[in-house]
Amino acid sequence: MRIVLTSSEAVPFSKTGGLADVSSALPKALAALGHELWLITPYYPQQAELNGLAKQIQSTEQSITITIGHNDVTARILESRIPGTSVRVFLVDQPDYFDRPGLYGDAQGDYRDSCERFVFLSRAVLEICRKFDIRPDVIHANDWQTGLVPALLKIEGHRYGLERTASIYTIHNMAFQGQFWHWDMVLTGLDWKYFNWRQMEFHGQLNLLKTGITFADMLTTVSPTYAREIQTAEFGNGLNGVLTSRREDLVGILNGIDEEVWNPATDPYIAENYDHTTVSIGKPVCKVALQKAMGLPVHMNVPLFGMISRITSQKGLDLILGCSRDLADLNVQCVFLGTGDPVLEKGLMALAKEHPEKFAVKIGYDEALSHQIEAGSDIFLMPSQFEPCGLNQMYSLAYGTVPIVRAVGGLADSVIDVTEANLGKGTANGFSFYEYKSEVLFRQICRTLGYFLDKTTWLKLQKTGMTRDWSWKRSAQEYLNAYQQACLKRSHGH
Ligand code: ADP
Ligand code: GLC
Repeated sequence: MRIVLTSSEAVPFSKTGGLADVSSALPKALAALGHELWLITPYYPQQAELNGLAKQIQSTEQSITITIGHNDVTARILESRIPGTSVRVFLVDQPDYFDRPGLYGDAQGDYRDSCERFVFLSRAVLEICRKFDIRPDVIHANDWQTGLVPALLKIEGHRYGLERTASIYTIHNMAFQGQFWHWDMVLTGLDWKYFNWRQMEFHGQLNLLKTGITFADMLTTVSPTYAREIQTAEFGNGLNGVLTSRREDLVGILNGIDEEVWNPATDPYIAENYDHTTVSIGKPVCKVALQKAMGLPVHMNVPLFGMISRITSQKGLDLILGCSRDLADLNVQCVFLGTGDPVLEKGLMALAKEHPEKFAVKIGYDEALSHQIEAGSDIFLMPSQFEPCGLNQMYSLAYGTVPIVRAVGGLADSVIDVTEANLGKGTANGFSFYEYKSEVLFRQICRTLGYFLDKTTWLKLQKTGMTRDWSWKRSAQEYLNAYQQACLKRSHGH
């Protein structure tokens, strides 16, 4: 198949979270299955510079001009590849929109012109297809930033030679909807008739997530459990009704992990490489290295908890802070890496200041340290309030780091709780709970520590996690099925 994937972030060009991992690992896996892939994403010069990518990005000598509201806006089109693959990457270079310190905002908050920035990206996707004569079978858009793409394809596709191209739209997070005041409808260039409660309007505003959901031929989200959850009021963020009306076209496909990047046997960032046969030898070396790197006392037998996360309420940090006093009374160590909400960041830093021998916190974004935490920790904490998929629990499982998770979304689909029955079947690989309360999390922590002392069972849990196939191969096949269904629907004129 000929597939164009578009997303507002993609590794190694840019990243704020799991969307960037998926946007490059999925095309890579599809290309490995023999399909022809293009990725279209913004060029954020400040991120490219940080990632040392200058040499890998070339000019195509082509540019596009798009009318946004009353202005004609031009962008240069740059070109690259996802490293080590045949996936061709087009980067939309529009410095007024994308040459900024952050992707979506800075210390002052969200950028106020993000609707305009990502409407531009969405229109650029169709322009690039025309300019480079791509004519894909499907265009795969992701999250609100490219939510306009399915609408443009359906309404204006014929103008770009894309009348036969189907659209598929993946929801990575219902909490971010790209909702803007109604006058931003003018920026989309679409007729006001589409600004109605069945299509682009939501509570009097323009909603780009809803737009993607209503216009795409097929919808996916990033785990089977989240696909069910978002059809309920608790997880649907107001769009549960819209999703329920499209349930026949909605599938949940669990993300995979990029095993070239997240593999303890080959990971260049960690102190000692290991696999499931050498985890008891390799992991202790990584643990000592992590304790030293984070300024914690080196104690082999003290259980070490790790957490890597955007610091937001989504990730359950309030639960951790809520039981931190009890946690500090235990003989444990905890390492946190993340950045985000200043209030939660302060809470974590205060904890580290009060108990420097137990808690170590690094505020910031640090790729190398994230690998070192996965390898060096014994237990990974991920008590999310909601979690569409979650990648870190899968990285943890692959690294023999036993996760404690809340049983929601993709966490419920990847972490199998330690119960007598699951231990008997050999499927248990971690600990999970449901009730969103600090004391419930703390009880799980204590339960986990009980098993940590039982070395035989612990090793079994580690090996179960490490030997399951977390790769993209399986999920890539499921995406292909969804693409085929989208093409069928498109050809039947849905
Ligand atoms: P989300 O996309 O909701 O943030 P995921 O678990 O899907 O959650 O993906 C998060 C990704 O971002 C993982 O690859 C994780 O390692 C990475 N990450 C998050 N925060 C940091 C950080 N501070 N430093 C390095 N990597 C981080
Ligand atoms: C979102 C979700 C996360 C998911 C990621 C990639 O950021 O919060 O759970 O893993 O997208 O799909």
